[in-house]
Amino acid sequence: MTGPEMKAGIPGPGADPGWTFCLDGYDPLLENSVESRFAISNGFLGIRGARATSRGQRWIVPARTYVAGLFDTSGTEHATTGLVPAADWLRFRIMMAGGPLLHHPGDMSSHHMTLDVRQGALFSAGRHFDSPDLGIQVRTLRLASISDRALGLQLIQMEIEQGEVDVAVEASFEGVELGLVIDRLDQDLGTWRTRHSGKRLAMATTSSLQIDGRDLEPAARGPLTWSWNWKTRPGQIATFQRFVAVVRSDAPDLDPGPEARDKLGSARHVGWQDVVAAHKAAWGRRWHNSDVEVDGDAKAQRMLRFALYHLNGAANPADERVSIGARALTGDNYHGHVFWDTEIFLLPFYILTWPEAARTLLMYRFHLLNGARAKAAAMGWRGALYPWESADTGADVTPEQVIGPDHRVIAILCGKLEQHISADVAYAVWQYWQATGDDAFLLEAGAEILLETGRFWASRAQREADGRCHIRGVIGPDEYHEHVDDNAYTNVMARWNIRRALDIAALLREHWPVRWISLARHLGLEDAELAQWLDVAETIAIGRDPETGLFEQFSGYFALEDIDLSHYAGRSVPMDVVLGRERTQASQVVKQSDVVALLGLLPEEFAGAAAETNFRYYEPRCSHGSSLSPAMHGLVAARLGDAEMALRYLRQTAAIDLAETHVAADGGIHIAALGGIWMLAVFGFAGLTLRNDGIAIDPRLPAGWDSMVFRIQWRGRHLKIAIDQANQSVEATLEAGEPMALTVGGDPHPLGRAAMLAVRFRKPGAASC
Ligand code: BGC
Repeated sequence: MTGPEMKAGIPGPGADPGWTFCLDGYDPLLENSVESRFAISNGFLGIRGARATSRGQRWIVPARTYVAGLFDTSGTEHATTGLVPAADWLRFRIMMAGGPLLHHPGDMSSHHMTLDVRQGALFSAGRHFDSPDLGIQVRTLRLASISDRALGLQLIQMEIEQGEVDVAVEASFEGVELGLVIDRLDQDLGTWRTRHSGKRLAMATTSSLQIDGRDLEPAARGPLTWSWNWKTRPGQIATFQRFVAVVRSDAPDLDPGPEARDKLGSARHVGWQDVVAAHKAAWGRRWHNSDVEVDGDAKAQRMLRFALYHLNGAANPADERVSIGARALTGDNYHGHVFWDTEIFLLPFYILTWPEAARTLLMYRFHLLNGARAKAAAMGWRGALYPWESADTGADVTPEQVIGPDHRVIAILCGKLEQHISADVAYAVWQYWQATGDDAFLLEAGAEILLETGRFWASRAQREADGRCHIRGVIGPDEYHEHVDDNAYTNVMARWNIRRALDIAALLREHWPVRWISLARHLGLEDAELAQWLDVAETIAIGRDPETGLFEQFSGYFALEDIDLSHYAGRSVPMDVVLGRERTQASQVVKQSDVVALLGLLPEEFAGAAAETNFRYYEPRCSHGSSLSPAMHGLVAARLGDAEMALRYLRQTAAIDLAETHVAADGGIHIAALGGIWMLAVFGFAGLTLRNDGIAIDPRLPAGWDSMVFRIQWRGRHLKIAIDQANQSVEATLEAGEPMALTVGGDPHPLGRAAMLAVRFRKPGAASC
């Protein structure tokens, strides 16, 4: 790098508060949740937002780096599977004669961190005056590139304010021997392998330091380590840069080292400025396609941007072998395991704003179909039962026990009983295909998933003496109640799954007969079996009162103790802790949206007043013991026209990761809740629904939201939708793709190519529900 480039310095964060999240000073109690919140990720690498300033021996604390799909098992009898963190590649120290430059707790006020979500980068700035001999201003940048996901970049700029002293700077990796077995450690390359799962990891790296624009030769080098010495003088600018290139290999005999070196070589060749520019341009494209702009409510705007930042950073459309864990790559709660969170709370966002990423996430499930078949078979059923918690092999990795809040060992039954996951995967497959029209995916993967999950339910539901089919002994989304019979969510989703499987069988038979013959042969599917599926779908018990349309959450639920949750408002612990497990199980207290989730996903099952009836019954009984719950309630409230309640739920959801007081984010951000925020805004406030013949919107913006603008993709088309509250109007622009129909407020309108449609969606003064 030359002198003039140095003068410009390293890039800094933007100033627009709509795009930046800042933190001043230091609060040890909030440190872990801040690390989650300020994590940077590109769907392959996830780096927690550890501060550039610590109170300890080092003034750069280790930042945990996670690599998607780098799972290992404990190798014990009850093996647990989890993401193994890679070595921290960001370690950096300034040393003076007396030891490392420390930063004392009382001296933190000058330290600022800024997560710039538009740039997808974490910045920090601070002044270090620990020693009377030396004063330094330090600015840092780190990013995980989304234009080349193998790449991480760290830049540190030190401006000497005072002092002429000898200093040394050391750049190294931390934790190289933790978690993984070292294969080799060279100056510029480390390679490791997992202990039991047969995976390998390579991290190639290079560091350099310039003083006033001139490269300084390292005084010492070691494996993954560099150090430099020089004498400071006021006004001097020292700039440190480090690249890391990370490659995972899933085969024990495939050395990922050469590819990591290649990737590193390309990054070095173009230089950090180009790497930063390409990364920013890639984020620009993601924001163009997915931003939701809200005028009139700056707080809601920030919440949405925070959610969109983590959603866009969580997926990697190039890797079909990984999905998104419950904390994405921002922390190790739930060990990186994948739940229904992905299909129900994340896929909608990807399907409509980033279909390539959605397809990849569904292909992950397709590749693991054999594991799902094995699970169903091991439990005595046919078809595919997806694991409740999934990692990389298709096996169910749900832990069997956990220590409860009262220190008792609690058996976790979800791995065996929480089976709605199979219908949830099928639901996402169907939504993807409906929204994209990606027939190639349907033929290659989607149809097989739908048929095998449909087959599972048709074998799982058993006909009984009352002539109906029942699904006994499950856990629904409300995990407070275990071993329940005929959970409404499970049974209705199962029925829906079987029906879609039958639809697909009929469709393939008619339109792709050759594919149908080969798939039916491969699956051993005969007409008699399809007839049995239909019979199950038509006779399955769903627990709906034909008069009122009210669903009973499961058989016997209405007879349980009815507890008024308003008496427990303001509690700081979950209801099952307040009441104890036994009393909770014997009550109607619901952990999270269950019938309400069904209403969110399949509103057509709730005709007439039934939607209102069910929501008003279950909403007050829900304790929101899961982060997934409030957004789903908000979505349904918005659709029912209760925008005020919906907005409350939006804020409650955002607070899970953003509230200063919250510690629940210690182990990573709640990516499903963040997906729920997007769903609430787009499916709730904009009232977007996907139909066979097009898209419908029926806006219900909350008071104070002057306008809401967002983009979606539908069957190869790119649409921009702008909702104006004051005029009660919608402007829709077809930015790319063929003409289509758009239904606004119930009325269909043709939408021409590159044309803009402007319509009133509700007459001024009309009731809003
Ligand atoms: C919820 C599940 C969820 C899991 C991971 C649990 O507390 O009850 O529905 O899938 O967390 O987010």
